[in-house]
Amino acid sequence: MSKGLFITFEGIDGCGKSTQLELLSDKLKELGKDYIVVREPGGTVVGEKIRNILLDKKNDSMVPLAELLLYEAARAQITEEVIRPSLEKGIIVICDRFFDSTTAYQGYARELGADLTDMLNKTATAGLKPDITFLLDLDSITALKRRTGRGEEDRLEALGTSFQDKVREGYLKAASEDPRIRKIDASRTPEEIFEEIMRWLSETL
Ligand SMILES: Nc1ncnc2c1ncn2[C@@H]1O[C@H](COP(=O)(O)OP(=O)(O)OP(=O)(O)O)[C@@H](O)[C@H]1O
Ligand SMILES: [Mg+2]
Repeated sequence: MSKGLFITFEGIDGCGKSTQLELLSDKLKELGKDYIVVREPGGTVVGEKIRNILLDKKNDSMVPLAELLLYEAARAQITEEVIRPSLEKGIIVICDRFFDSTTAYQGYARELGADLTDMLNKTATAGLKPDITFLLDLDSITALKRRTGRGEEDRLEALGTSFQDKVREGYLKAASEDPRIRKIDASRTPEEIFEEIMRWLSETL
């Protein structure tokens, strides 16, 4: 078993994952904790290359199955190269997205099905699961508003709010099936959201 703590942030594009991750990172630094922050897809040399393929708008001919397998490839790499070794050393790992993203985006919204995504998620991570996952739950319109002004959207973001609505539904379904996933109302201020996150983490940190 791993000794570190594995924390992941999930939610639709623009819900506030990176914002909360940064707040948590600052807090852990203040507390003198040993931690790393990683992001999915990416976080390794190979993974960042895969990330560029996935987010490139020129790749609009990519079929859903190819998308799924690329995500899993990046995941296998970061899990074996970074996450598992860090946890074994007792380091706290905070990850911006992990396999719940695949469950919501590819399994549910892209309709590849939970059987396939569950099986591939398990294979790519060799069974590693986050200790706690914060699902920042937000409606797609508010998320879109938050994102505007942040520059050009990437290939997945360009799919619009009806796709994001479906992703949100997929996340909520996953949260209802697994107590590991803590649903957080992300329509509030960053400070209010962070306070709730710290309340959940106070016992484990
Ligand atoms: N609670 C909040 N209330 C209002 N605005 C917020 C809140 N949290 C984050 N924002 C702003 O919304 C935008 C999106 O936030 P952020 O980048 O943290 O989301 P994200 O979930 O990481 O997005 P992505 O999935 O695209 O990486 C940013 O401009 C951020 O400053
Ligand atoms: Mg982000």
